[in-house]
Amino acid sequence: MHAHVILAAGQGTRMRSRLPKVLHPLLGKPMLLYALEAALALEPERLVVVVGHGGEKVVEALEGYPVEVAWQKEQLGTAHALLQAEGLLRDFPGPFLVTQGDTPLLSPKTLEALLLRVREGAGMALLTVELPDPTGYGRILREGEEVLGNVEEKDASPEVRAIREVNAGAYAFDGFLFQALKEVRNENAAREYYLPDLVAIYRAHGRRVLAVRGVAEEALGVNTREELARVEGVLLRRLRAEWMGKGVRMILPETIYLEPSVELAPDVTLWPGAVLKGRTRIGEGCEVGPYAVLEDTVLEPGAKVLAHTVAQGAHLHPGASAGPFARLRPGAVLMEEVHVGNFVEVKNSLLHKGVKAGHLAYLGDAEVGEGTNIGAGVITANYDGKRKHKTEIGKKAFIGSNSVLVAPVRVGDRALVGAGSVITQDVPEGALAVARERQKNLEGYALRKLGEG
Ligand code: UD1
Ligand code: CA
Repeated sequence: MHAHVILAAGQGTRMRSRLPKVLHPLLGKPMLLYALEAALALEPERLVVVVGHGGEKVVEALEGYPVEVAWQKEQLGTAHALLQAEGLLRDFPGPFLVTQGDTPLLSPKTLEALLLRVREGAGMALLTVELPDPTGYGRILREGEEVLGNVEEKDASPEVRAIREVNAGAYAFDGFLFQALKEVRNENAAREYYLPDLVAIYRAHGRRVLAVRGVAEEALGVNTREELARVEGVLLRRLRAEWMGKGVRMILPETIYLEPSVELAPDVTLWPGAVLKGRTRIGEGCEVGPYAVLEDTVLEPGAKVLAHTVAQGAHLHPGASAGPFARLRPGAVLMEEVHVGNFVEVKNSLLHKGVKAGHLAYLGDAEVGEGTNIGAGVITANYDGKRKHKTEIGKKAFIGSNSVLVAPVRVGDRALVGAGSVITQDVPEGALAVARERQKNLEGYALRKLGEG
């Protein structure tokens, strides 16, 4: 049994952003949720998040998670932040884990190791790592396994700054925590209440402080945009490696972006620059072409998306294909063997088996029957300025190039629409509809104009 506190009240000045730092997304998910999920993995009895700067937004992001919220009204430092959880945890006997909302790569295994030290009798345990460039982190003073103190960068002498072992910002404490916190003073360069000062305070009370040595990557804290990009890079590398291990082929993997919510099957091929977001699911043998963007889109086995296609909320059944340069919007459903080609936009439309729309068309709020051919430049005029209307096209129909189907309208099975028609009335099954001016040829007119006739 333990309680966990996550510190997430800081402004994150160095991000230079209106968005609170802990809400900056990593692979589409707020940074804070990484720390939160690591904490939840250990099933704490109580989980408190300390919020402050941009707190309302942070609380919103926490919705649905089993957390309690403590408010830090003024950001006076990490020790002061932790003290704000006292009201909620006063009667909790400990041990306590404390982590930071800006350290997203910390693993549950490491947290468990910290907790174990305290369970085995240490008063306090903290995670340390050795960094080639320790700039910005607190430096660790130690003697063997025992930690003597932590010195923040701002307060460090050149000799101390040369120390490369740093405080990663993850701690475990025994039940003495809140009593000790009251002894923290802000007599330092930042005029802040430093949480790592607890090292010295615990020692002064005769309690042992131990370090757990971690791997550098886990400790990466996010204070700047550059660090955010670095952490995102680590997460992406891990994710790509995981999917390649499960049989996904990635060409130039370092150019491929995907989010943890995406699911891929074996023998999927991803070409360079593919962007896969949200609840995108890609079935066996599918191919995603270069620079395609798929969000919340499903490709059933054997479907294909060609270069530069953008799909959002679309569903492609086996053998369907879209692109290059296709645009599929929410509710676009392409059944088996459908092909949608370049500069074709499909929204909230069901295209039955074998429909072809090869070039330059807009299909919105439409249902198109099996085997129908949609010519280049065809448009379903679904919007009358106020409301959206439906277009229904039957099976094996042929809609000639550059036709406008003014909805609500129906075109029957096997009907033919002549090129350039503006269809405002239903077309019966098997009929030919031509709705355009007939062609007139004025013999010799052009030559007369040129003075040659
Ligand atoms: C902190 C540690 C440093 C450590 C580093 C590891 C202190 C004083 N320093 O420095 O030793 O090497 O983390 O990443 O703790 N926060 C609040 N309220 C505040 C201030 C901060 O909730 O008043 C939260 C922030 O939202 C953030 C975390 O505490 O999630 C750390 O604060 P930050 O200012 O980033 O500390 P660092 O300078 O990185
Ligand atoms: Ca930090």
